[in-house]
Amino acid sequence: MEPSVIEQARTFVATSLPAIAAVASIAELDELEARSIGRRAPFVEWKRSLATLAPDERPRAGQALNEGIGELAEALRVRRAELERTERARLLDLDRLDLGEVITRWTPGHLHLVTKVREELEMVFLGMGYEVAEGPEIETDWYNFSALNMPKHHSARSIQDSFYLNVGDGDSWLLRSQTSPVQIRLLERGVLPLYAIAPGRVYRRDTADSRHLPVFHQIEGIVVDKGVSFGDLKGTINTFVHAIFGDEISARLRPAYFPFTEPSAEFEITCAICAGEGCRTCSQTGWIELGGCGMVHPAVFEATGVDPELYSGFAFGFGIDRLAIMRHGIEDIRSFLENDVRFLRQF
Ligand code: DAH
Repeated sequence: MEPSVIEQARTFVATSLPAIAAVASIAELDELEARSIGRRAPFVEWKRSLATLAPDERPRAGQALNEGIGELAEALRVRRAELERTERARLLDLDRLDLGEVITRWTPGHLHLVTKVREELEMVFLGMGYEVAEGPEIETDWYNFSALNMPKHHSARSIQDSFYLNVGDGDSWLLRSQTSPVQIRLLERGVLPLYAIAPGRVYRRDTADSRHLPVFHQIEGIVVDKGVSFGDLKGTINTFVHAIFGDEISARLRPAYFPFTEPSAEFEITCAICAGEGCRTCSQTGWIELGGCGMVHPAVFEATGVDPELYSGFAFGFGIDRLAIMRHGIEDIRSFLENDVRFLRQF
């Protein structure tokens, strides 16, 4: 005799339960659900066959079928919840930012070498009674050039190939190519005597190489007082060079041209790489150029309303990054921007 509907259903439930518990993905579970309690399940057929049973057998068989369906539905629900939990955990794990890893490797940082050298220079000049001033990095043509005795079409402008900004009208705007415009701003303030330095970022259209960067740092110095002489300038340069480099390194001045100083000079220091013996870095001269300086040009006084009969002054300017690579024997100035911690950590 054929097994009864009730027996068939019991066997089906008994074999389906372990299959449901073993399903490994939601997609497989959907498939199994359709085959066990859905439209493709044998229950559909079995229910239809109830009509062929004797009327007094129908309720018991019907109830048995419903119980089987209920049991399978519950097993499917439990397995679905488990699979969803596992899937969510997997996704969270993929997304996880492992902050613990960062924290365990954490070591205290420190200021960048260029910042440290700038601060050292500030301390040296503060010690000599200077104030530390700042000016904007976006300047007008007037401050960056014209007031510094470089009118339009002046040849010295092309040496400092600048980044011009396409803003406003009238005077043109640019990223300052030197810190010298801060001289003008300080003189315009009209508070004399003036002893100030102005460190900061400057910009030039230069291609980066081992000694140039398109963004670098300069420090400007300006002194205006009664009776200031070229000798004071020379003494000031000697003082700060010894303070930064030590007594073995000396400074010398050589005639040069800058539009905003007259007379003008370049100042050079003993090459720190060969201690003045002569090497490749200093082209066998024993000296390295550090910056420019000179006595403030009468045209600058005129542009800023300072009485040249009463006052005289000197100014100087040099690259902070340059000074840092010289003092530490760094071969390539680009290392300052590469953010390789193995390099940065050394200083
Ligand atoms: N501004 C000049 C430059 O960027 C450097 C300089 C030269 C500054 C002579 C001065 C100076 O104050 O007197 O090349």
